[in-house]
Amino acid sequence: MKELLIFLIFVLVSSLEGSKWPRRRSLIHPKTFDDIPPNVEVKWYKGMRVDHFAYGNTDTFNLRFMWNNTFYKAGGPIFFYTGNEGSLEGFVTATGIMFDIAQQFNASLIFAEHRYYGQTQPYNTSSYANLKNLGYLTSEQALADYAELLSTLKTPNNQFNYTFPSDTKVISFGGSYGGMLSAWFRMKYPHIVTGAWAGSAPLIYMRGGGIEPGVFDNITSRTYVDNGCNRFILANVWNAVLNLSATADGRAFLNNNTVFTLDPRTPIRNATDGWNLNAFMREAIEYMAMVDYPYPTSFLEPLPAWPVKVACSFMNSTGTTFTDQQLVTMVAQAANVYYNYNQVANYTWCIDYSVCGDEGVGGLGNDALGWPWQECSEIVMAMCAHGGTNDVFWEECGTDIYQLLQEQCVQIFANLSWTSANWDIDAVKKLYGFDLSAASNLILTQGHLDPWSGGGYSASATNPSRGIYILEIPGSAHHLDLRQPNTCDPNTITNARFQIINIISCWLTSSCQNTMSLYSLPDIQIPTGIECKDVVQGFPWGQSYPTTSAGSMSLMLAFVVALFWNF
Ligand SMILES: *[C@@H]1O[C@H](CO)[C@@H](O)[C@H](O)[C@H]1NC(C)=O
Ligand SMILES: *[C@@H]1O[C@H](CO)[C@@H](O)[C@H](O)[C@H]1NC(C)=O
Ligand SMILES: *[C@@H]1O[C@H](CO)[C@@H](O)[C@H](O)[C@H]1NC(C)=O
Ligand SMILES: *[C@@H]1O[C@H](CO)[C@@H](O)[C@H](O)[C@H]1NC(C)=O
Ligand SMILES: *[C@@H]1O[C@H](CO)[C@@H](O)[C@H](O)[C@H]1NC(C)=O
Ligand SMILES: *[C@@H]1O[C@H](CO)[C@@H](O)[C@H](O)[C@H]1NC(C)=O
Ligand SMILES: *[C@@H]1O[C@H](CO)[C@@H](O)[C@H](O)[C@H]1NC(C)=O
Ligand SMILES: *[C@@H]1O[C@H](CO)[C@@H](O)[C@H](O)[C@H]1NC(C)=O
Ligand SMILES: *[C@@H]1O[C@H](CO)[C@@H](O)[C@H](O)[C@H]1NC(C)=O
Ligand SMILES: *[C@@H]1O[C@H](CO)[C@@H](O)[C@H](O)[C@H]1NC(C)=O
Ligand SMILES: *[C@@H]1O[C@H](CO)[C@@H](O)[C@H](O)[C@H]1NC(C)=O
Repeated sequence: MKELLIFLIFVLVSSLEGSKWPRRRSLIHPKTFDDIPPNVEVKWYKGMRVDHFAYGNTDTFNLRFMWNNTFYKAGGPIFFYTGNEGSLEGFVTATGIMFDIAQQFNASLIFAEHRYYGQTQPYNTSSYANLKNLGYLTSEQALADYAELLSTLKTPNNQFNYTFPSDTKVISFGGSYGGMLSAWFRMKYPHIVTGAWAGSAPLIYMRGGGIEPGVFDNITSRTYVDNGCNRFILANVWNAVLNLSATADGRAFLNNNTVFTLDPRTPIRNATDGWNLNAFMREAIEYMAMVDYPYPTSFLEPLPAWPVKVACSFMNSTGTTFTDQQLVTMVAQAANVYYNYNQVANYTWCIDYSVCGDEGVGGLGNDALGWPWQECSEIVMAMCAHGGTNDVFWEECGTDIYQLLQEQCVQIFANLSWTSANWDIDAVKKLYGFDLSAASNLILTQGHLDPWSGGGYSASATNPSRGIYILEIPGSAHHLDLRQPNTCDPNTITNARFQIINIISCWLTSSCQNTMSLYSLPDIQIPTGIECKDVVQGFPWGQSYPTTSAGSMSLMLAFVVALFWNF
């Protein structure tokens, strides 16, 4: 199975502002996939209401979904993927775990495409033409779509000529923004959704959520330092670029470089262009932390296993005495791990987003504007770098991050005449809330390597009495847990999946009255020297629960971890 990654996009608007505004990292899966994954059928829900919450606008549209009913047996559940901000194909292929466990649960698999992404365009080619049309791109409308789809599938004589029993239980799955949706789906529609597995969902990375805006880049920095990078190199390369951009000799070095070739359309002419080069390299650094997976993966360009470790092999010289040229050379080699791992000889760095779009993710067209719209309306993420001791980037938070974000929204949606009346900074807080005191049956995972892991709840919010389980998984990047199990997965992720699947099993079994405990993950062990390949239907993957007598403190520690080296 071709593995695809969930990515995040920066939207930089103009080169000058690139230096002034916080880099906006969006949770996006931007690549347009032409190939429908081979293990699903495509279906269309016809007649979805554009507006679920008022009755003046009676427009409808067709919502795309994909399903796989191969493993379904009467009495089994529906595993439902709450599609997020991109074409659905990518989420189907990046969520192999759903296919892997479908058989043991007798589950039907359904993946729904989020409105305004991929082929699900409520107003066809006019969906993004004006704010009146675009205004229906909201998380609560999307969740209402999913609720309507599931309700219809349980209604006799429906448009699909296929009806699930009305008591069919539903587990929602999702990663990243899709994880936010899967958690919110359970919170808002508990009569439809029994429980949620939300991977790497930054549910509270917003005003009032208690998250420090700089945590994303603090974790990015940590992931590099922990992989052997010399922090000084990353922390100082940005000034080195600006220094070089400011002199004729420096510009000649950058424009005639041996490590990278700038696109002829985007040469370095002055410091503004230097900021573009900084943004371009920074994007590679941040993305590699998000997708620091234990086996090779392929997105726009192929990535090696553990790309951050590979990148750090170019940034591990010790000390603090480097020339500006040396700093740029080291970080540029690291950035090429992301942009050009295949070493395509004529690959060029197009560093100006306004010229080539975002090279890092290739997000073009309407899908690339969807997430910025969501961030400029309802899901206002408060994030920026501080530089200094917080992270290896530069101070960009200013005195009022919302003012900066607002200026950015004005710019991005200038041709739609966006004003601050079009957003509500506190919408998520009001719609879904930031505390879990009324929630239940949520599995929330975070990957320790993933910069987004700082945007979720801490493990201390775990509350088995209400089925709330929060796991921070060492050795995991952005929702690795949802991917197809692999021989090269660290034991931590395997153990997390084992526990999660047992929790879901309990949710689905009426006889399972006992509250499931969450046990500490084992000390991390990373398989080395073996071939990385899919592990298919391997549950329980050699994992088991501690056998020590109940109540003993050693219960939490005595974890049996077996057979990792024998796969
Ligand atoms: C459903 O998924 C399984 C596992 O990937 C695959 O073997 C099967 O062919 C799929 N069914 C359909 C109808 O595509
Ligand atoms: C799956 O279906 C089979 C056959 O109906 C049944 O024996 C089995 O118990 C079911 N499994 C679960 C987990 O319900
Ligand atoms: C979108 O296109 C379809 C197919 O051409 C058409 O039936 C539908 O009315 C269009 N929807 C809108 C809102 O224009
Ligand atoms: C607005 O501008 C963006 C490029 O910044 C473009 O992609 C989009 O199509 C434009 N929208 C309209 C309605 O003109
Ligand atoms: C619905 O499915 C049944 C059984 O598979 C079939 O006989 C019938 O023709 C189908 N009806 C429609 C409208 O497709
Ligand atoms: C993350 O932030 C903390 C607190 O400011 C700081 O002590 C730590 O060094 C930072 N980590 C990195 C890798 O910069
Ligand atoms: C950039 O230029 C300044 C002023 O000449 C110098 O102090 C500094 O070391 C240079 N390099 C970096 C990475 O700041
Ligand atoms: C490349 O370097 C040469 C000198 O080696 C210089 O004359 C030329 O201007 C440089 N090209 C650019 C685009 O800066
Ligand atoms: C940098 O050069 C570009 C192209 O010549 C120009 O448009 C821009 O205004 C310059 N920026 C500065 C700060 O000089
Ligand atoms: C940097 O990494 C490379 C490749 O892993 C290694 O050969 C080299 O010894 C490392 N250098 C330092 C100073 O750690
Ligand atoms: C790079 O080289 C390949 C093969 O020689 C060619 O097909 C491709 O068009 C080239 N790309 C560019 C941007 O020049």
